[in-house]
Amino acid sequence: MLAWGLVLPVAMAALGAATPAEPVPAAAPLPYHSSDQTLGTVNCASSTCHGSISEFRDSKVLQTEYVTWSRLDKHTRTYQVLLNAQSARIAKNLGLPEPPQESAVCLDCHAHNVPVALRGERFKLADGVVCESCHGPAERWIKTHLEPNPSHARNLAAGLYPTDQPIARARLCLSCHFGNADKLVTHRLMGAGHPRLSFELETFSMIEPAHFRLNGPASAEVMRWDGVKIWAIGQALAVSESMSILLSPKRGRDGIFPELVLFDCHACHHPMSEQRWKPHAEFGLRQGPGIARLNDSNLLMMRVIARQIDPALGARITAQAARLQAASAGQGDVTAEALALRAQAEELAGQIEASSLGPAFLRGIALGLIDEGLSGNYADYAGAEQATMSLGSVIDYINRQHLLRSPGELNGALQRLNTTLVNDEHYRPADYEAQLRDLRGLLSRQ
Ligand code: HEC
Ligand code: HEC
Ligand code: HEC
Ligand code: HEC
Repeated sequence: MLAWGLVLPVAMAALGAATPAEPVPAAAPLPYHSSDQTLGTVNCASSTCHGSISEFRDSKVLQTEYVTWSRLDKHTRTYQVLLNAQSARIAKNLGLPEPPQESAVCLDCHAHNVPVALRGERFKLADGVVCESCHGPAERWIKTHLEPNPSHARNLAAGLYPTDQPIARARLCLSCHFGNADKLVTHRLMGAGHPRLSFELETFSMIEPAHFRLNGPASAEVMRWDGVKIWAIGQALAVSESMSILLSPKRGRDGIFPELVLFDCHACHHPMSEQRWKPHAEFGLRQGPGIARLNDSNLLMMRVIARQIDPALGARITAQAARLQAASAGQGDVTAEALALRAQAEELAGQIEASSLGPAFLRGIALGLIDEGLSGNYADYAGAEQATMSLGSVIDYINRQHLLRSPGELNGALQRLNTTLVNDEHYRPADYEAQLRDLRGLLSRQ
């Protein structure tokens, strides 16, 4: 127990204290919504700009970003993937009129597919997910960021996308890795052969080879990386985006059916001989047999976070989630309930961004994630998968604050938890819960 009482090295003021960060520019448009021109990656690649092979010691930024991205980052391959046999098969199964590398359905996520009029002379679609896909089209900010004393605020005003702000970053990554009202890996795409998307913001942020200083930018204007905040905001915004998809007239339906990716895949995809249903209450709602339930994996994570930040909000979210699940099964108005839940998710994301999350919060979150599972709420593979990535992110963060006595043991327990998820079709909640119980025991002894 002792370690939990230590003061974290980063300022850990009481919950609710605002961090001294740039004010979030009122919902910066996502890079692909910008009306500025995209100049093209070659403009960033010079060795005196971002294409240096060694770090610039006196620079605010590494200046090796292009080398990291072009050699190590999978985002450079996203367009090439559209030329492979799997993509050809997906396009053929969908009956797309053009090849995948020419279809907006694919290019919207696998490249920087901005309108032709906004593509500069040196722009190449084949470069994939490029600097400007994340940092925003550079037409205006190229000048401000080359000023002798560049200011982050001036760059943002000139169209630089605020990747340092967790909410803005979450919206950006989720737009391709989870989908939003504009673009989505629909159930039809999955049926045609597209892999199921599995995403947790902080886990993916850590897997992506970093082309920036993880321990904080040199410039005080830029927000520091805070892994647990990024994880928590990623959860709240995934709920918000899934509500937008549900509400979107373009995305929410598929013929007479709702869009099936919004539901738990394994509610439908499991052998009929395997009778799984048992009485079970979640969000205070008794789940009836034979009903396809909305995928609630991010909602469960979000509830754990909300309970730690503000128990009253946690209770409201629980009640709202129950109303939405009931409405989706025919008892209530889905639109009204989804709108209300989206508003709560956005409210929570704002609260997380403005909070400092201390050791008691971290411990509460880690145990809360486990206890949801021990109450039987990860009966679905998607919930268990999301909880596992979340526990990995949160425990890793706790470890980096030097709050663990035996990180090696915890790592072993996390790995054993992971092995119960190797095959989604053979997921057995009882095995998963047994590993969770072990992890809880270890964690409570730290
Ligand atoms: C909403 C965004 C989105 C859309 C739309 C989309 N994809 Fe993807 N696709 C992804 C992401 C994200 C991944 C990576 C999944 C991962 O590794 O987590 C991916 C992975 C793939 C893969 C597997 C790549 C590999 O390395 O194994 C193929 C093939 C693919 N997509 C083809 C297509 C084709 C063809 C289309 C159009 C019919 C398409 N995608 C539409 C986001 C999208
Ligand atoms: C997939 C999205 C993505 C792509 C592609 C991308 N970046 Fe980044 N970049 C980020 C994120 C996230 C950060 C970390 C947050 C921050 O500091 O803004 C970052 C940070 C940076 C920083 C440090 C900013 C600072 O003030 O500390 C620089 C410089 C940078 N990127 C340049 C580039 C260049 C050049 C390219 C292309 C070669 C590129 N990035 C491609 C997402 C991306
Ligand atoms: C414009 C769409 C787009 C955006 C924005 C985007 N990604 Fe990706 N990302 C992709 C696609 C498509 C792939 C799949 C590449 C492949 O499998 O070949 C991918 C792959 C990845 C991978 C490799 C996954 C693996 O299976 O190894 C990581 C990690 C990743 N992205 C993290 C991020 C993060 C973090 C952000 C936000 C800072 C982000 N991405 C923003 C489209 C995007
Ligand atoms: C409400 C029920 C339902 C849900 C929920 C559902 N599916 Fe499906 N799925 C179907 C049906 C029906 C088919 C069509 C089966 C056929 O063609 O015989 C299908 C087909 C598929 C196929 C193609 C299988 C084949 O044999 O070609 C894939 C892959 C797939 N779904 C993946 C998913 C994923 C991933 C999810 C969750 C994100 C999901 N499904 C959620 C009902 C569902």
